[in-house]
Amino acid sequence: MTKQLITSALPYVNGLPHLGHMVGCLLPADVFARYLRAKGDDVLYICGTDEHGTVSEVGAAKENMPVESYCQKYHDQHVKMYQGFNLSFDYFGRTSSDQNKEITYRIFKALDKNDLIEERTTKQVYSPDDGRYLPDSYVMGTCPYCGYDKAKGDQCENCTKVLDPTDLINPRSVLSGSSNIEIRETKHLFLRLPKLEDELNQWIETKKGIWPDIAYSIAKKWLKEGLKERGITRDLKWGFAVPRPGFENKVFYVWFDAPIGYIGITKQWSDEKPTERHWEDWWLKPDEVHYTEFMGKDNIPFHTISFPATLKGTGENWKTVDFLKGMNYLNFAGGKFSKSAHRGIFLDDAIAEFPADYWRYWLIANAPESDDTNFSFDHFAAVVNKDLNDVLGNFINRVLKMTEKNFGAVVPPMGQPTTNEMELYQTLDTLITDYRKYMDGLEFRKAMATLREIWVAGNNYIAKTEPWKVVKENKDYAGTILATALNLIRLFGHISAPVMPESAEKMLAIIGEKLPFRFPTEPMKIYLTGIESGRAFAPCEPLFAKIAPERLEELKIKYKETEA
Ligand code: MF3
Ligand code: ZN
Repeated sequence: MTKQLITSALPYVNGLPHLGHMVGCLLPADVFARYLRAKGDDVLYICGTDEHGTVSEVGAAKENMPVESYCQKYHDQHVKMYQGFNLSFDYFGRTSSDQNKEITYRIFKALDKNDLIEERTTKQVYSPDDGRYLPDSYVMGTCPYCGYDKAKGDQCENCTKVLDPTDLINPRSVLSGSSNIEIRETKHLFLRLPKLEDELNQWIETKKGIWPDIAYSIAKKWLKEGLKERGITRDLKWGFAVPRPGFENKVFYVWFDAPIGYIGITKQWSDEKPTERHWEDWWLKPDEVHYTEFMGKDNIPFHTISFPATLKGTGENWKTVDFLKGMNYLNFAGGKFSKSAHRGIFLDDAIAEFPADYWRYWLIANAPESDDTNFSFDHFAAVVNKDLNDVLGNFINRVLKMTEKNFGAVVPPMGQPTTNEMELYQTLDTLITDYRKYMDGLEFRKAMATLREIWVAGNNYIAKTEPWKVVKENKDYAGTILATALNLIRLFGHISAPVMPESAEKMLAIIGEKLPFRFPTEPMKIYLTGIESGRAFAPCEPLFAKIAPERLEELKIKYKETEA
């Protein structure tokens, strides 16, 4: 049994998750995890909230809450929303956990021992009125290049020039607006990435042709430009204290302990479930585990360079990523999702409007794999109405009704297959081989297009054999057709389960099958004659509902799609 470790990039605890987050890393990882489990692999799917850093500290201050309770509050909201989307994490933890602290310290100490940590004095913006150091992006001022007056201290969003806070004209604090700004000298720790450059380069070379181009090329580009020492500490309170004299008021930088969180969260799981495999079996026996990471494209450098370097620098045998799936962005009406402008669809709203499976199917079938893609309600409704209702739902309803009318609510006897059935077996054998190939290769759009073709093949079979006519002349053969069609419902359930778990469970319940489901591996000739005749089935309520034109217009207005 293959051990499959899967992680989704850890969402920031304070960001309200929307459909873009869902398709960027959470949902594809879930679909993949469900698929591998159905194939019989030993899967561990780990995720959690990314909690440290300035954004949480400032957010908590705004809500007048201790930062711990603030993080707990938003962590709980994430958990609830992901449950609504039926994400099947084996564990959803937190980067602020004791376990993550323990692993972060362990890794830091090993890096320090290997002479990979360097102390440096840096200049940092201090705001006496806020009583704190300000990260670069919390300083605002006029861009010296283009004159834009809302340029941030790390970059001017108007002319895209990369800036230093000291470049800004009339700098002020984003928090208080105060222009009483000082530059203070402060000590920080840096990870000596240049010393790890050769090792990383060699490692990345082994991923050529294995990782998707986007991941490999981003990593190579960074290496080609040459790695620089990277600051791993900050002047903040909320984070893991830096265990070194002289660093009492500092914590580790959020991007240092966040990816280590994958390990820390696995240990959280392992500590809570001592009967399961130990966390070290997943992270310190690299040859026994296959590790797949999912993330948005902006996260790729951290996962291909900084995090692997952090692990390799310890000299310990940590598991590093085998396959990395980076996603492009999902836009809303041609622009970005925005919390402040209430633009886009956030997960709680999504679930209040439609069942999770509608969203899951649309998102995976239209995943931004090779380019950014756009969400629109028109497209969403078209897909729900056509693929889910006309193609899949309608097939199931017709087959059940026709069978019940002519044979009662039981599976009719199956006779010898004719050329019609042989053709169907052949078509499906090919399509299912393709489907597996795309799922194994994490090519989700192609996998979903193939899944749909499989549903269509079922419809074509019924259209061609016309059981409603055959039943009048040759009832035995009509029974064979409908028995085959009932087996098709089982097939559709089994293979749709990774993307539409709730609907799949309903499909399978109709014909009396229960969890856990297994992905079919036998030839269709055998699989599609698998249900014994006489087995009772339950007539079902329609599985899906169409989105009416009036509802569609309401949605567009409610979510401001037309104004965007
Ligand atoms: N919180 C980051 C983001 O949403 C992702 C962190 S991934 C991790 O962009 F590996 F560092 F945890
Ligand atoms: Zn500018």
